[in-house]
Amino acid sequence: MGTTNDVINGFFGIVEQYINSLNALERKVVDYKTPSELKKMINFTISSQGEDYQNIFQYINSYLDYSVATGNKQFFNQFYSGFNLPAFMGEVLTAISNTSMYTYEVAPVATLIEMEMIKKMSEIVGFNNGDGIFVTGGSNANLIAMFSARNKLFPEIMSIGMKHLPQMSLFVSDQAHYSFENAANLLGLGTSSIYSVKSDINGSMLVSDLEEKILESRQKNEVPFFVVATAGTTMLSSFDPIEAVIETAHRHNIWCHVDGAFGGSLILSHKTRHLFNGVEKADSFAWDPHKIMNIPLMSSVILTREKGRLAKNITNLQDDYIYHDTETGNYDLGKKSIQCGRRVDALKLWLSWKYYGDQGYGQRITRLLELSEYFENKIKENSRFQLTKPRQTLNVCFRYMPLKDINIDDFNKNIRETLRKTGKTLVNFGIIDNRFTFRWVVSNPEVTEKDIDIFFDNFLTTADQLEDNMQTIN
Ligand SMILES: Cc1ncc(COP(=O)(O)O)c(C=O)c1O
Repeated sequence: MGTTNDVINGFFGIVEQYINSLNALERKVVDYKTPSELKKMINFTISSQGEDYQNIFQYINSYLDYSVATGNKQFFNQFYSGFNLPAFMGEVLTAISNTSMYTYEVAPVATLIEMEMIKKMSEIVGFNNGDGIFVTGGSNANLIAMFSARNKLFPEIMSIGMKHLPQMSLFVSDQAHYSFENAANLLGLGTSSIYSVKSDINGSMLVSDLEEKILESRQKNEVPFFVVATAGTTMLSSFDPIEAVIETAHRHNIWCHVDGAFGGSLILSHKTRHLFNGVEKADSFAWDPHKIMNIPLMSSVILTREKGRLAKNITNLQDDYIYHDTETGNYDLGKKSIQCGRRVDALKLWLSWKYYGDQGYGQRITRLLELSEYFENKIKENSRFQLTKPRQTLNVCFRYMPLKDINIDDFNKNIRETLRKTGKTLVNFGIIDNRFTFRWVVSNPEVTEKDIDIFFDNFLTTADQLEDNMQTIN
């Protein structure tokens, strides 16, 4: 297929075409195929003989043809969507400069960029002398927060483990992300150490119940060590009352973590900044720019209020094969990471933030909230829809009310699957109060009101067609 340059040009030609086609009129969100169809269409096996670039290009095209086009403006399924050009450039640079974030020696510019991003994000949160690091996702940010709280309370765990210790306990709301269960499992605490604190009808933690659960745990001679306030719950995008949760945790000498993996970026909008009041007193904060800041996965940070906390968690840094005693040793970010090799994930965020600036990012997040309000109003205006919960911040939870006497949950599921498999739109669902509910979320600020109107046209046409074909229950 010619020279390496030809291959590079060919490759970037495909990339350019793909980006340009993302929102073409005829473009589907996904050209859905079943696993067995895909297995027939794409040769997934690796053979003993290598293949040429002609084949590689075929695989690249197939990959793009049958993957979900999350950059398409009808992708409302997850907290990532859209296409961010400066961030995309950063992602490509990360790949071509291929290095690891452990030492300044191998990542001089990237190290300073990561430090700058951590400083900036810490200051926004109000951790003026804090610390932080990029990690591989919000779940892992939550894990590191729990790890930090545990090791701060019982530093001896690092060497002798937990066998001599009393049972520890932690507190998250009944709306909190499932990653806390995994973290409790991984850290040897067990999921039974988790107290599920009740939330109110809007999905916001009831601080009175937190107080009660802490006392209940103390009465059992457990050691409460970790409380979580969620800033933007996964399903409802609700906020726990951050200041009150922190105050309660600290009155009991417990570490308070704020899970802003999803909603943390809402701190950038003047419309939602007040929801974070008091956050500067938290002990740690998880924040995923790869969600509604529109940075390609992964880009995620854990911030701590205490400087040096993360390095104190790390067990053994005697490995002089990597950390040499040089004048830039203070810049070796690996010394506070549980990973050894670590991707350059700060670069794409840095380029994007440079491009949009603080003001631009504030406007982008505010725009998402406006789109969300527009969507919510469309639901409210149409009697064929029902809001399953009032909108808290970004997510709109709703369901369709069929005219015929048919099972509502099954019918809604049917609409969702039909929309997904025809590639018209992708919108997620969950269960609220034991009922099926759509969870619509927008994380691409370039979506317009017209795109939302198209969503409703697609939705209602599909619902009508399905309903016409349905038998009533009786
Ligand atoms: C509130 C919350 N916390 C944590 C996470 C996990 O983030 P990640 O997918 O980056 O691991 C999510 C994911 O949606 C979330 O909504």
